[in-house]
Amino acid sequence: MDTTKVTKNGQVTIPVDFRRMLSIEPGNKVLFFQRENGDVVIENTVAPTRREQPDASAAALADSSATSTATPTGALGDAAKNAAAGAAPPATTGAHGDTRAMHTHVVYCHPSESSLTAKVRDAFLRGLGDAGHTYTISDLYKMGFRADMTEQEYLRDAYYNLAPPLASDVLAEQALINAADALVFIYPVFWTDAPAKLKGWFDRVWRYGFAYGQDDARTAGLAPMRTLKTVLTIAIAGHTAETLEEQGRLQSMVNVMLDDRIHTRAKAKEFILLGGTERSDPELRARMAKRHLETAYRLALGIGAPST
Ligand SMILES: Cc1cc2nc3c(=O)[nH]c(=O)nc-3n(C[C@H](O)[C@H](O)[C@H](O)COP(=O)(O)O)c2cc1C
Repeated sequence: MDTTKVTKNGQVTIPVDFRRMLSIEPGNKVLFFQRENGDVVIENTVAPTRREQPDASAAALADSSATSTATPTGALGDAAKNAAAGAAPPATTGAHGDTRAMHTHVVYCHPSESSLTAKVRDAFLRGLGDAGHTYTISDLYKMGFRADMTEQEYLRDAYYNLAPPLASDVLAEQALINAADALVFIYPVFWTDAPAKLKGWFDRVWRYGFAYGQDDARTAGLAPMRTLKTVLTIAIAGHTAETLEEQGRLQSMVNVMLDDRIHTRAKAKEFILLGGTERSDPELRARMAKRHLETAYRLALGIGAPST
């Protein structure tokens, strides 16, 4: 245990052992926050690696409320292993290593503003702002985003035909993605997947010449999707992560989202499941909600931080 004297301006010297432990170097910013149990925590906001955070990890595992998989593109095997091991939410220890502000596009999908998912969104956006990151957001319900493909849209993609122009709402989404370093999805789990509107967003935005058929697009002088620096999926579920894992459903969601939809379209990708929020157990839901809001906030602080 170390003690350190507080100056009249409220300044303290961080003891050297703690600086080493947290890899704090001159110029780094440190973050102070309070956990729900009252503990005050100090974190380095510029962490060389994502570390497991003992308290939150242990609690998350005990409650089986949350799990996370982080994987470099193409290494779903690792993601599967992480998920199977019930990995706890990563300690999101701050802004990415190079301290450059990340521009994030958030795709948010929930029909109700009174939901926990809306609160998770707000905590995440607050974290982005506090970390100095900029963002845009597509709130699919508020926008009235059309989820179903028209026959013309289907024929364009099914027959690899770049000629028919894309709809303006699709072009707008593609432009927001190509302007971003990071893409983040926040949604509730509906029937072991995203709500239909977000599934439809993939059908209509992840199009031929943009998300696939990119060489054809370049040959035709069109700009396809840029490889994103990072993609983060935050899914809020009624069941606990442990239950979903036992049933094989967690891995199904990770496979679909990270391996199929994101695939090699990002250099890093991560799936965070925030579980245990069923209304049948109000006490558990309230406890998990508090923890999940803290996790969402810290995920935003750490957006783009190396995950390995
Ligand atoms: C139509 C519908 C389907 C759902 N399907 C699942 C499911 O498959 N697995 C699960 O864990 N939770 C499921 N849930 C629970 C949601 O994930 C729930 O909305 C979640 O606890 C987030 O809370 P919120 O809606 O207040 O944001 C479902 C909820 C609805 C309304």
